[in-house]
Amino acid sequence: MTESAPAEFHSAKPDTLRLFFALWPDDATRVALNRTGKWLHQHWGGRRMRADTLHLTLAFLGSTPAEHLDALVACADTVQSHAFELILDQAGYWRHNRIGWLGASETPSQHVELVGALNAALQATGFPVDARPHVPHVTLLRNTVGGEIPVCEPVRWPVSDFVLVKSVTEPEGAHYEVIRRWPLD
Ligand code: 2AM
Repeated sequence: MTESAPAEFHSAKPDTLRLFFALWPDDATRVALNRTGKWLHQHWGGRRMRADTLHLTLAFLGSTPAEHLDALVACADTVQSHAFELILDQAGYWRHNRIGWLGASETPSQHVELVGALNAALQATGFPVDARPHVPHVTLLRNTVGGEIPVCEPVRWPVSDFVLVKSVTEPEGAHYEVIRRWPLD
C-alpha cells in the first residue's frame, strides 16, 4: 500500500464514509483557534488537535453508505441560512470524553437556525440526528482533565459557508477532507 493510495483503499468498509457537517475555519480563524489551543494546553495538558483538523461540528452522521451521499447533498441544498459572526470566547471541558474546547457564551440566532434547518432536512430524509441539544464548540484538546477555566482571547469567526466533511482514519490519526461547500447569504 503506498502513500498515494486513495483513502478508501485503507478502509475496512470501502462502501461507507464517515461524514459530518461542519463550520470550517478560514486561515485567520484557524490560526486564532490554534493559538487558543496552545494556551489551553499550557493550562490543562492533554493532546492538542492538529491545526488542520480544527472545525465546529454542526451535525454528525458517522458511518454512512456511500450511496447516500447524493441524498445528503440534497438535504444541505435545501438549507437557506444567513452569514454571521461567531464569537468564541468561552473555554470548557467535558469529563466524560476528556475534551477541552472553545465555545460561545452567546450563540447567534443564525447559528441556531442553521443547525435547526440542517437537522430538520436530515430528519425528513431519514438520516440519524442527534437528540441532544447542540452545543457549539471547537475541540482543541483531547485526553485532558481540564482544570480552572482560563480567560481566553475571543476568536471572531466570520461564518460565510458550511461544509460536508469526510473523516479518514489513518495510523497517525484522523484527517478530514472537505468534500462540498454551501455558501450562506
Ligand atoms: P467533538 O469535537 O466533540 O469530538 C468528527 O469526529 C467530529 O464529529 C468531531 O467534531 C466530533 O465532536 C464529532 N463527533 C464525533 N462523534 C460524535 C457523536 N457520536 N455525536 C456527535 N458528534 C460527534
